[in-house]
Amino acid sequence: MAKVALTGIKPSGTPHIGNYLGVIQPALELVNEFDAYYFIADEHALTTVHDAKQMRELSYEVAATWLALGLDPDRTVVYRQSDIPEVFELTWILSCVTPKGLMNRAHAYKDAVAANEAAGRTSDDGVSMGLFNYPILMASDIIVVDADVVPVGSDQRQHVEYARDIAETFNRIFGETLRVPEARIDDNVATIVGVDGRKMSKSYGNEIPIFMEPRAQRKLVMRIVTDSRAPEEPKDPSTDNLFRIYEHFGSPSDVAAVRTRYESGGIGYGEVKDMLANALEGRFAEPRARYDDLMAHRERIDEILADGAARAQKVARATLDRVRRAVGL
Ligand code: TRP
Repeated sequence: MAKVALTGIKPSGTPHIGNYLGVIQPALELVNEFDAYYFIADEHALTTVHDAKQMRELSYEVAATWLALGLDPDRTVVYRQSDIPEVFELTWILSCVTPKGLMNRAHAYKDAVAANEAAGRTSDDGVSMGLFNYPILMASDIIVVDADVVPVGSDQRQHVEYARDIAETFNRIFGETLRVPEARIDDNVATIVGVDGRKMSKSYGNEIPIFMEPRAQRKLVMRIVTDSRAPEEPKDPSTDNLFRIYEHFGSPSDVAAVRTRYESGGIGYGEVKDMLANALEGRFAEPRARYDDLMAHRERIDEILADGAARAQKVARATLDRVRRAVGL
């Protein structure tokens, strides 16, 4: 039987080219080798998105993005997390074998506490139980379909390690029941930077949306921060923000030529930005047409997600039967 790959994208923002390079593209490559389960993590998004209309809109955007970029729903199980209640049932059972101390050490929670303390607020100010329990819900996503590998960005490494820990703890207590997953992290693209030079992330507001209107996308590319060195000066491409985005989108021969011109001096940032904007427009032209079409026909997305939910739920039900038997429920 083929091994299982699973990943989730949180509909908490419009998908950007950092998501594309870090997760979407690597995950799409795995579908030839694995039984793939790729889902919309709407229950995770609920920790931050508290507006029903926005939640629905972003869920469609995420689904349409994956489909437009080549996810084939006949070969991959595409679904909405909230359509699989077994995920949540498993979350409770796993939370009963998860040490609270493990959650206290989770990066996202610790960061929230540290920010509160630095600002002189009480340590758990604004921290919901959803944020605190987030890693257990994520372990359930992974474990419920017996995932072997989880393609994620490096910021999710700890979460997948927690899923391993939790599965192992469960197995130690109740006997071999759960498959123990492993993260698959593509380190080449782990550090894609945004327009301000920090890691590209919705939380910094520095992202370049994949399917942004091309003229607006070009404007955003023009805003990518660069230093003030003159075109003639030789520059190290490997430490240049702009080059580090461009190298993923230009053709191999263009990228090689630009690299040489960086090293020898003789290329200005404006020219590289122009090449990057063109490369993005070219790369996403066809997917953009598919994306617009799907967003204009949401009933097609609904149909695909309903079909995916039925398929995912079959596997999830079998896992839950096993788990309930193991714990005596
Ligand atoms: N926490 C992930 C993120 O923020 C999204 C996610 C939810 C996920 N469940 C998952 C990723 C299961 C991989 C597997 O990006």
